Amino acid sequence: MCGIVGCVTAGDEAPRILISSLKRLEYRGYDSAGLAILGDGEIETMREVGKLANLENSLGDKSIGGSTGLGHTRWATHGRPTEVNAHPHRDGSGRIVVVHNGIIENYRELRAELREKGHVFASDTDSEVIAHLVQSNFDGDLTDAVAQSIRRLKGAYAIGVMHADRPELIVGARKDCPLVVGLGEGANFLASDVTAVMDQTNRVVYLGDEEIATIRRETLEIRKLSGEAVDYTPTTISWSLAQAERGGYPHFMLKEIHEQPTVVSDTLLGRLDEDKGEIRLEELAIDDEILKGIKRVNIIACGTSWHAGHVAKFYIEQLARIPVDVDYASELRYRDPVLEEGGLVIAISQSGETADTIAAMRMAAKAGCKVVGVCNVIGSTIVREADGTIMTHAGPEIGVASTKAFVSQLVALLLFSLKLGRVRGVLSEGDIRKHCQRLRQLPHAVEAALQSEAHVREVALKYVSAQDFLFIGRGVNYPIALEGALKLKEISYIHAEGYPAGELKHGPIALLDEKLPVVAICTESTIYDKIVTNVEEARVRDAKMIVIASAGDDAIQEVADDVIYVPRMDELLSPIVNVVPLQLLSYFVARERGCDVDQPRNLAKSVTVE
Ligand code: AGP
Repeated sequence: MCGIVGCVTAGDEAPRILISSLKRLEYRGYDSAGLAILGDGEIETMREVGKLANLENSLGDKSIGGSTGLGHTRWATHGRPTEVNAHPHRDGSGRIVVVHNGIIENYRELRAELREKGHVFASDTDSEVIAHLVQSNFDGDLTDAVAQSIRRLKGAYAIGVMHADRPELIVGARKDCPLVVGLGEGANFLASDVTAVMDQTNRVVYLGDEEIATIRRETLEIRKLSGEAVDYTPTTISWSLAQAERGGYPHFMLKEIHEQPTVVSDTLLGRLDEDKGEIRLEELAIDDEILKGIKRVNIIACGTSWHAGHVAKFYIEQLARIPVDVDYASELRYRDPVLEEGGLVIAISQSGETADTIAAMRMAAKAGCKVVGVCNVIGSTIVREADGTIMTHAGPEIGVASTKAFVSQLVALLLFSLKLGRVRGVLSEGDIRKHCQRLRQLPHAVEAALQSEAHVREVALKYVSAQDFLFIGRGVNYPIALEGALKLKEISYIHAEGYPAGELKHGPIALLDEKLPVVAICTESTIYDKIVTNVEEARVRDAKMIVIASAGDDAIQEVADDVIYVPRMDELLSPIVNVVPLQLLSYFVARERGCDVDQPRNLAKSVTVE
């Protein structure tokens, strides 16, 4: 899990450009970073353990300049985060350097083979083998050498390669890891994602699997592994650079929480047609006739996206009356699941690059299922490979803890469920109209939920020293309890569990005492009385009760230590609003505990390896 960048420019600007690009990729990994700069026929490399700031500081002490370079920010998979294991890696001659994201599964065999031929390895990484392979295949043409080398690789990779004898040239290639080429004026760039090149250009080309890019200052050539030239069309990115930066907030996470009203509007934009009583999802690209015939839906996802999948199960079953299974992609891919031809699989992923989700999706496609990707990143693997997509329009999410992307997934999945319901005749045009009217109010409701921020902060400060937290919810808000717990544990490192409230008495009730804060989602619903009973059960066992309640519910104060009010909502829409105070709660607890909110330890934004 790493970020890679490269540039071919004029003058001596490569180090400055690469550092600024790497700053936008720190979310992909941040245990070490490195640069390789080519100038005057020599490649100079610099590598530092820890965050990018360490590399930037040591670069400040040196006068390194060059027009061409590669950079890397690492999240260790093979080999500890040390200077020797940091990228870029060199071949034995020192003339070739490589940066790599991914995992080379057959690196041990390749290393043994190369050792036999006299290659000496400096690091414990799988990546170094690529530099040696390229060197052993180099016969004057760097692109050919890269092509021959990647034929030998098993696993996943995005790479950037440079040769000291080939000025103003970098070669990039990928398989199952993201890689884009940015097209500038008299300069071209390479990066793991578009945010890294956005201050240079908004024109990018997404490389396909096993495509090789030969990048010079004025030209880009792409070819397939077979040697056939690829006729590419650049994509123009409409995200502004400011969108990808912190926008004045202390952390990306807080900025992204505050963007949610806009994100909800953007995800709804152009999709509600009250006149016709229809939901319009053009990129879905699956015929209504096929949607009509679906007998079962399988949802696959990881982490927060898996929680969105559980909300979607509730939506699809209620609105379209189709049975739904929700699986962790990492589990499904190693089971022998019943995936039938003609079944519908929904792959949910913010990044569109999560290795397990991609693998499970490919399994489903092979079994003859139709795959719909619910995704936030245009050009990502899931978007490219799915039969149809529903883009979530959350914009770039930089904080490792997913917030606005989750909310946008819920909105997209609700739209899809409504469409399914209509196509199958479960919902009438009139029903769709009513849902559209409610959905149009949703951005305001999310905005109103954000008004609780100051109060949520006070509540967070009261419980900042707790060792454990329990989150409970029921029905469509049970997955929101899971999400609240995940958010808190990933950024504050406090142990937290989410539970369906009705399950308390089957075990977790034994944990309750005055030291355990319990966050209960207790907003208006058809099972409101049931969850109030669960809150009372916990309260009489001395647990500290933090209750999320609907505005106007004064009675709830009798069973709560702290109440956080959210706007009154239709039950189906309530998860989208209820998650907001839970995101804020975890944010303020983590901030008060001095945690690195945007880049929590051991986590990476995009899990592109198994
Ligand atoms: C969310 O806060 C997490 N960091 C993580 O669980 C994430 O949702 C998961 O890795 C899936 O990512 P994806 O949506 O990009 O596939």
